[in-house]
Amino acid sequence: MSIFVDSGDIKEIRKFMKMGILQGVTTNPTILLKDGVKGGIDQIKDHAREIADTIHPYPISIEVTSNEKDEMVQQAREFCRWSDNIVVKIAIHGPNGELDNLEVIHILEKQYDIRVNVTAMMSAQQCFLAILAGATYVSLFGGRVNNMGYNCIEEIKKTRKLIDESALKAKIIVGSTREVLNVVEWLIAGAHIVTVAPKLLEGMIVHPYTKETVQQFLRDAKKAEETRPVRTDIRTLAASAKKKVITEL
Ligand code: E4P
Repeated sequence: MSIFVDSGDIKEIRKFMKMGILQGVTTNPTILLKDGVKGGIDQIKDHAREIADTIHPYPISIEVTSNEKDEMVQQAREFCRWSDNIVVKIAIHGPNGELDNLEVIHILEKQYDIRVNVTAMMSAQQCFLAILAGATYVSLFGGRVNNMGYNCIEEIKKTRKLIDESALKAKIIVGSTREVLNVVEWLIAGAHIVTVAPKLLEGMIVHPYTKETVQQFLRDAKKAEETRPVRTDIRTLAASAKKKVITEL
């Protein structure tokens, strides 16, 4: 079970890497745009390389920016030349249900030995077909599934069962986190990886009652410090004893 961060923000990524809690990064065109990566493939290249270096050898997923068959293959082959820990994200089908994508996934994995993260999936059946096509990672969008009134935990359990019972190698990434609770629940349901939005990752760490408890401990440690018993060194003791004797004489 692993935690990835769902972000293109290098500062956030470095922060969590230093904590030793991260084992990968996922991005998509919306996340990269939000994190300021503008201007096309060259900018994506520079940014992807910086993240890839920062988290190496852990995987970073970069999504193709076209759904045209040959362009997806061409982009995927280029992305992988940027760094050996880049994984290419390909959607399970096109924007209007185009079915080329599974063929592209199969070509990339089997012909070019390129690791593919099949993305934008909402169901166990989509994940299973992507796995049969050879996908290394299958990404279920948990928050969007729940948003549609389905329970993504059922899709996670079904997908994990299919993988385990068929001894398949693919790893389930569940993304589209909406609340802190999602993370542990989805891992327990069978996700190999949950990719978490940075704010929710912080929310997993910081607990209001922990704050209160640590404040109390620090307060009492300080109080104990301030009320430290006055220790008198031997010379002072001797001097006052001598003074006492003299006055009594
Ligand atoms: C992860 O790989 C996905 O691209 C991401 O989690 C989607 O999240 P969203 O539903 O918040 O856009």
